[in-house]
Amino acid sequence: MEPAPVALCPATPEALRAAGERLRRGGLVAFPTETVYGLGADATNAPAVAAIFAAKGRPRFNPLIVHVADMSRAALHARFSAQAEALAAAFWPGPLTLVLEKRGMSPVCDLATAGLATIALRIPSHPVARQLLLAADVPVAAPSANRSGHVSPTRAEHVVADLGAQDILILEGGATTVGLESTVVDVSGAVPVLLRPGGITRADIEAVLAAPVGIATGESDLPASPGMLARHYAPRTALRLNATRPGPGEAWLAFGPQDACHAGPAINLSAAGDLVEAAMHLFAALRTLDATGVPCIAVAPIPEQGLGEAINDRLRRAALGAGGAPPKDP
Ligand code: TXA
Ligand code: MG
Repeated sequence: MEPAPVALCPATPEALRAAGERLRRGGLVAFPTETVYGLGADATNAPAVAAIFAAKGRPRFNPLIVHVADMSRAALHARFSAQAEALAAAFWPGPLTLVLEKRGMSPVCDLATAGLATIALRIPSHPVARQLLLAADVPVAAPSANRSGHVSPTRAEHVVADLGAQDILILEGGATTVGLESTVVDVSGAVPVLLRPGGITRADIEAVLAAPVGIATGESDLPASPGMLARHYAPRTALRLNATRPGPGEAWLAFGPQDACHAGPAINLSAAGDLVEAAMHLFAALRTLDATGVPCIAVAPIPEQGLGEAINDRLRRAALGAGGAPPKDP
């Protein structure tokens, strides 16, 4: 077999300098963030951003999240309302993306924002991401570093499995700690709207704003937010959600204390019933069970509180993406 031209790099100071240089020259760098691994390019360089879509095999040009190292850099690209400033002060650096009014003087290319008047910005907290952004000193557009339609990578090996054959420098940074993509909140209008549940919970956001956030009412209302497309996070295997127990031949994605043992492949997202731990393990567990070749993964119910909202959102998309009506609970 042909060896793939994989460049998996420990994130040493020299590697980070080289990665920063590579981004400035229009190359692609995959890097860890606290949420998932991102596939980054210089957001001001349209051909480099186009290379992201090509590498992912994305069917169309969705607006991407632009990552910056600090607030002074963020302010170059967007106008912050008082609410936006409050959210940034509370959660940056961290797993929150703000959709803001883009400044006319921002050099971020239209391809990165899909030509919208708004821009999605995030300051990640992962030390490798922060050092890379400082080394590159350009805004970095980065969707999750997976093939289009696959679940997001939470380990460098997931990136290698999906994109290892491409000309991408992959920075190694271990398993990500949050495990779900960032929460996306649109603060460009009068009422903040939650576009994508994620690493920061709705309750956390509402506590800072001291007001309820609006809910995106469905993907048809939001052509600007294709991250909300139902079939976004799809393993190949069918998923059966809210299963009380696995059926014969199924894999079992459990949550919380379990007494029954299961003969087939099984992973418990959190035996302690901890939603933070479950979020961290979700995508790796889906990848592992997907690779077992079983026809269906039965998934235990996950409570719809805190991070459970984001976990259930990803599971519902994964279930739709896998296609076909799953069997009824045995
Ligand atoms: O955790 C994360 O957010 C990861 C890491 C790498 O930072 N990135 C990520 O990027 O998930 P991506 O491109 O897969 O998701 C971008 C999300 C999508 O839901 C997209 O529709 C939304 O942000 N988005 C980006 N720009 C937008 C805009 N101007 N208006 C509305 N939604 C926007
Ligand atoms: Mg993605």
